[in-house]
Amino acid sequence: MGRLRRRPGMVDALREFSDLVTVFDDSFSGRGQWKTRFPADGPLFVELGTGKGQYLRQAAEQNPTQCFIGMEREPGVLLQAVRKTRQLGLANLQFVLADVQYLPQIFAPGEIDGLYIHFCDPWPKSRHDKRRLTHPGFIAIYRTVLAADGAVRFKTDNRPLFDYSLESFQGCGMALTALSYDLHAEPVVSPLIMTEYEAKFAAAGLPIHYCEARFGPAIEEGGGIA
Ligand SMILES: C[S@@+](CC[C@H](N)C(=O)[O-])C[C@H]1O[C@@H](n2cnc3c(N)ncnc32)[C@H](O)[C@@H]1O
Repeated sequence: MGRLRRRPGMVDALREFSDLVTVFDDSFSGRGQWKTRFPADGPLFVELGTGKGQYLRQAAEQNPTQCFIGMEREPGVLLQAVRKTRQLGLANLQFVLADVQYLPQIFAPGEIDGLYIHFCDPWPKSRHDKRRLTHPGFIAIYRTVLAADGAVRFKTDNRPLFDYSLESFQGCGMALTALSYDLHAEPVVSPLIMTEYEAKFAAAGLPIHYCEARFGPAIEEGGGIA
């Protein structure tokens, strides 16, 4: 339990939804076996810092043959995600209570087909840069759990964080396979599914920045994918 923030009441409440949420602790033994928790056999996508799970509930509803996992380190926030999801009875959506730094202990190499990072905390002070989920230290972790053709899909309203992240992905040998500085004005992603934070920022008129990065081919001059 030392790995979890100390909210014992919330963690106990999460454990009551053991078919829907995995509390990552020293007893965890499901690494490499995530697909057995889903009736569908489609690709596995993981959202890091899922919050209340709004994005994944829509993605899971729209893609019943795909498997989705929301990872979140705050038990109280995750409890809200789990309760909302229970009401919908979605068989292809699961959650994990854990910090992103423990991805390699939770997933086997190549077990994840795609990662989503949506509106992660920007940590604007440079001395806190290692906490950004797009820091090279985290990207090295993502490489260990992503399938060879897997993608990281990243959205933020924060331009300095976006610029930092583009550099970080490319500096780690990833290629940008999609890019938009105003996602809601360009059909780069279809259908567009909004996260909770995205809906708020978009309603306030802020442009949403988006990129897809892979350890694979790059965007050609002019915007096409090589
Ligand atoms: C700003 S919220 C965004 C929530 C959601 N992705 C959205 O777009 O609406 C960021 C979430 O990431 C979680 N988070 C931040 N760092 C994390 C980490 N290292 N591991 C797991 N969750 C993390 C926070 O607890 C918070 O719920």
